[in-house]
Amino acid sequence: MTITGINITEFEIQEKEILVEFLSSGCWQFHSTPQIPKEKLLKQFESGYFTGSGQRTFLIKKSVDNLLIGVIRLFDLGESTDDDETPLFDIKIKEEFRGDGTGKKAVSWLTDFVFTNYPNKLRFEATTRIDNIAMRRVLEHCGFVKEAHYRQAWPDKEGNRYDCAGYGILRRDWENKTITPVKWND
Ligand SMILES: CC(C)(COP(=O)(O)OP(=O)(O)OC[C@H]1O[C@@H](n2cnc3c(N)ncnc32)[C@H](O)[C@@H]1OP(=O)(O)O)[C@@H](O)C(=O)NCCC(=O)NCCS
Repeated sequence: MTITGINITEFEIQEKEILVEFLSSGCWQFHSTPQIPKEKLLKQFESGYFTGSGQRTFLIKKSVDNLLIGVIRLFDLGESTDDDETPLFDIKIKEEFRGDGTGKKAVSWLTDFVFTNYPNKLRFEATTRIDNIAMRRVLEHCGFVKEAHYRQAWPDKEGNRYDCAGYGILRRDWENKTITPVKWND
C-alpha cells in the first residue's frame, strides 16, 4: 500500500535479516526492553511472534528509496479472519524518521486494514506508556479514545513502574467518523 511518502507491505520471510537488524539496532525507550538482542529476536521468529497464528508484521519503507523506517506488529487477531477477538498492535519507527507524520499515516492505514479485512472485529486496541506523548497523540489523531489507565503497570528495564494508558477505536466510529465517549460516571 502506498501512502504519501511511504509504502507499507506485509513482512516476508526473506526480509528476516533486515527486520532483525532494524529492531536490534534501535533504542525503544518506552518499551520494557529498549535494546532488543538479536538472539531474542531470532527466538521470537521461531516461536511465531511475528508471523504465527493471529500475528502479522508490516514494514514501513520510504517510497523514494525503499529504506526501512518502521515496523508494525499486529497481534491477537485470532484464528481466522472471521474471529471476533480484539486485536492490538505495536509500532516502531526509526528515531531519525519520527515526528514527520509517519506514525499517524501508518496507524490510520492499519486501522483501515483491520476493519476492512476482519469483518467481525468491532474494536481495535492499543496500550502505551503514559509518558509516550507521541504515541498518545498518534492514537488520538487516528480516532482512538482513552478507555483505561493502568497504574504502575509498565516496568522499564531498571524495574521502575510507569502508568500505562489503554486506547480503543470502535468499528462503528471508524465507519461513521465519529468519537463515542467513554461513560466514566456510569
Ligand atoms: C510513537 C511513534 C510511533 C510515533 O510516530 P511518529 O512518526 O513519530 O509520529 P507522528 O509524526 O505521526 O506524530 C507524532 C505526534 O506527537 C507529537 N509529539 C511528539 N513528541 C511529542 C512530545 N514530546 N510532546 C508533545 N507532542 C509530541 C507530534 O507533535 C505529533 O502530533 P501533532 O501532529 O498533533 O503535532 C514513534 O515516535 C516511535 O516509533 N517511537 C518509538 C517506539 C514507540 O514508542 N512505539 C509505541 C509503542 S506503544
